[in-house]
Amino acid sequence: MPAPVRRDWYDTPLFYDIIFDADTVKEADFLEAVARLHGKTRGKAVLELACGSGRLIKELASRHWEAAGFDLNPEMLAFARQRLAASGIEALLWQDRMESFRVPRRRRFDLVHCLVSTFKYLLTEEDALGCLQGVAAVLKPGGLLVLGVHLTDASAARPTHERWVARRDGIEVVCNTRTWPPHSGTRLEPMRSRLRVTLADGRIEEQETQWEVRSYTAAHLRSLLRKSGEFEVLACHDFRHEIGETRRFNDEYSDLVLILGRR
Ligand SMILES: C[S@@+](CC[C@H](N)C(=O)[O-])C[C@H]1O[C@@H](n2cnc3c(N)ncnc32)[C@H](O)[C@@H]1O
Repeated sequence: MPAPVRRDWYDTPLFYDIIFDADTVKEADFLEAVARLHGKTRGKAVLELACGSGRLIKELASRHWEAAGFDLNPEMLAFARQRLAASGIEALLWQDRMESFRVPRRRRFDLVHCLVSTFKYLLTEEDALGCLQGVAAVLKPGGLLVLGVHLTDASAARPTHERWVARRDGIEVVCNTRTWPPHSGTRLEPMRSRLRVTLADGRIEEQETQWEVRSYTAAHLRSLLRKSGEFEVLACHDFRHEIGETRRFNDEYSDLVLILGRR
């Protein structure tokens, strides 16, 4: 077997989507339940930061949310646009960056979300604060930010490994992701994802992405939110996305989903 091709995983949106779409309905159920339980605004305008393949945009728009989202990657955006067009669903999509985004037409939102650790792509404190400031500027007073972040065990010395397998339309995607402990000064943690894709005609493709994300402990998140000053913590869950299961805002669980209310 030849060595895997080096490629940005997000340049192959279909392979991304096949893995992550499995959780879409559950995550959308959770977001709607969060809005019902904690929302102080009455509307259904939702913004997804770094919306990727558009899986949650489509799901929420089909549930009568007025959905909007942006992403850095043009391949992801093209996939999302095509998916919406194929379903006859309308949503506002544009290319932008989480750290400095500008919403067209001065739209304001009841709910903003950023799940599955995407916030960790903001590599500096300045960028993370810039993003929170951008969110606060477009949320209606009392609106909600739902932020899902995988926490890093600061004492871990070995890489962690996660494996996913998913199938759609005869295509199978196996994803093996390794994350190495963060560099102490920068908090950046190196990651490597290897995808083994079996296409419908039986051909096999392998690709590898290497990148770095910014690590967080619960204390890092608390400190960031304190500096931002724009949000209060209303509740804390984990990546099971169960509205009935709350967690403490500490390092007990490795995945935190924070429900933040705009002050
Ligand atoms: C893990 S995917 C999440 C996609 C989508 N939110 C979802 O839940 O399926 C991460 C996405 O973040 C995008 N991304 C990474 N850094 C970004 C940045 N600084 N600004 C905007 N998008 C970014 C990538 O292109 C990719 O689509």
